[in-house]
Amino acid sequence: MPAPKDVEKKIEALREKIRRHEHLYYVLDDPEISDAEFDKLMQQLKSLEAEHPSLVTPDSPTQRVGGKPREGFVKVSHSSPMLSLDNTYNEEELRAWERRVHELTGRSDVDYVCELKLDGMSLALIYEDGKLVRGVTRGDGSIGEDVTLNVRTVRSIPLSIPKERLKKAGIPADFEVRGELLMPTASFKKINEEREKNGLPTFANPRNFTAGTVRQLDANVTAERRMDFFPYILLQGGRTYFDRHSKTLSALDAAGFKVNPNHKLVHSMDEVWRFIQEWEGKRDSLPYEIDGIVVKVDRTGLQDELGFTGKAPRWAIAYKYAARAGITKLENVRWQVGRTGKLTPVAELSPVSIGGTTVRNATLHNMDEIERLGVKIGDWVQVERGGDVIPKVAKVIDDKEHPRGKADIEAPVKCPVCGTKVVRTEGEVDFRCVNANCPAKLAGTILHFASRGVMNIDGMGDALVTQLTERGLVKNVADIYKLTKSDLLSLERMGDKSAQNILGEIEASKKLPLERVIYGLGIRMVGERTAQFLAEHFGSMEALAEAGVEELQNVNEVGPRIAESIVEFFSIPANRKLVERLGEAGLAFKGKKKERGTKLAGKTFVLTGTLAKYSRDEAKKMIEDAGGKVTGSVSKKTDYVLAGADAGSKLDKAKELGVAVIGEKEMEDLTR
Ligand code: IVH
Repeated sequence: MPAPKDVEKKIEALREKIRRHEHLYYVLDDPEISDAEFDKLMQQLKSLEAEHPSLVTPDSPTQRVGGKPREGFVKVSHSSPMLSLDNTYNEEELRAWERRVHELTGRSDVDYVCELKLDGMSLALIYEDGKLVRGVTRGDGSIGEDVTLNVRTVRSIPLSIPKERLKKAGIPADFEVRGELLMPTASFKKINEEREKNGLPTFANPRNFTAGTVRQLDANVTAERRMDFFPYILLQGGRTYFDRHSKTLSALDAAGFKVNPNHKLVHSMDEVWRFIQEWEGKRDSLPYEIDGIVVKVDRTGLQDELGFTGKAPRWAIAYKYAARAGITKLENVRWQVGRTGKLTPVAELSPVSIGGTTVRNATLHNMDEIERLGVKIGDWVQVERGGDVIPKVAKVIDDKEHPRGKADIEAPVKCPVCGTKVVRTEGEVDFRCVNANCPAKLAGTILHFASRGVMNIDGMGDALVTQLTERGLVKNVADIYKLTKSDLLSLERMGDKSAQNILGEIEASKKLPLERVIYGLGIRMVGERTAQFLAEHFGSMEALAEAGVEELQNVNEVGPRIAESIVEFFSIPANRKLVERLGEAGLAFKGKKKERGTKLAGKTFVLTGTLAKYSRDEAKKMIEDAGGKVTGSVSKKTDYVLAGADAGSKLDKAKELGVAVIGEKEMEDLTR
């Protein structure tokens, strides 16, 4: 039987009231009623909904908790890539970024917005008709995981925004918000302490904790661990909606999101620098961790002009604060073997708390660094921890209170894992284990292959890979595709469901494009970007495997050293066999070949000013498709400067050096 209309109205009114109080409490931090009064309203709503279950909607405030534990997360594509940021570490680098902004836009009067760089994880929220329909993690930037149920439990995320409110804020009914999900330091400490007491593993820092929490299969756990969400991007159809970033922030605030109040619109780099210095002193007073400041070009038009490099926009930059440091004793040094066979010295330390994280290990990089530091076992050392880098030993403390250690750190003679004699090539700093079958190398190779940016086999982490390699179930990456459910079930801590999930992930990885497979092979010096260029150039694994050093150097960004490394890889029969087996397993060996013309081969272009007919990216693409190359600054090697309106210093430089200056028309002629 349908519920009477008046009940429906009553429920909706009650929801509106609760939403208003949630906003006052969780977003504005300014409650009007007591917790008990709030609970009473919630109780009323719950009992009405219990009486009329057909009226329960996903955006009801009662739906923030609960849901049965799920078996896994569904993968979702992002409307546009979720990017990361390039970093700067000092004023000089920041000013160099500003110069680049001036150069590329041809303007010197650029407004910036300064924001805190929140140390959480980025998250995308999709709203349809004003209602939250999906929450997606960043994932690899193109594909994330649907964590909607978990996201719903975050109180500062509105589940539903009234139409009038959106209208007033100038936001359309269908939109996407991106921002930072984070764990306040106090919750982090409290939960970690409880876990320690209960003998559970603790989280290293609030960021890892946030990531672990939002991916809880049981959303009830997420609900208990009070997290917060600060938005900073508003999109519609994958594109920035407002013409200024500062407008985005005020509109999001007006719509009821918790915009971080500590941001500022400024008109010069001097003001940016003041903001950075001011917050360096105040960062410890915040209830959550920040690791720097983000500076963004305010005007969307200029943002579009500046575009992107690889995975980061040119219109924004992060300024990272100096690492936090602590002093502790160096107890021992062990040598760790990586996937390329490289041995890295790891300092084993007396545990020390640095900025809320317990540090037990730190890197010493290599033998040269050990000599430079003059460090001995037993020394007191200063250890530094940055936001996302591994802690490192920065210096030896040498004063009256800290007696010096005595024992020298010996260079390694044998691989600590397989016992093979290590080698150090003339002129290289690193020691390497050259045993192709060294189990440490194998584990590293498998981990790289399965990692997120490569074949994205979720669940195939350290613990699993160690077991798989130790038991001989996986002797190379192709063996992954031979694993059966009973193989997996024979491992420790592996249930039926997890085994099934991992098999599903392995199967799904077969659909990933050719460039990922190339990257996954772990060829020395072939990173993500190079793998992409190789895939585009050759269009198939077979063609790549047959290519010679000459041909390889025709590929964008491939020089003689990389070319030789690729040829060497494919010259080893075991590697060829491995690649063949990956093909048999059904991995993508064909890709889309990107035909590049040769008309402009060897010609270098620089773009400046605002073009009338094409966007910068379009012009760049036209030039590259014709075989030309686009670089950032004008030099004697530049063949053409393509200048649009308001061209700045680059045009002057071109004239000074006598470089040909062309317009869009000439570019069209050249590329056709
Ligand atoms: S803007 C295209 N703003 O930092 C712009 N990011 O190191 C991309 N982050 O992945 C992000 N605070 O998770 C932006 N105020 C802020 C931020 C912020 C923290 C994170 C974000 C991003 C990472 C890059």
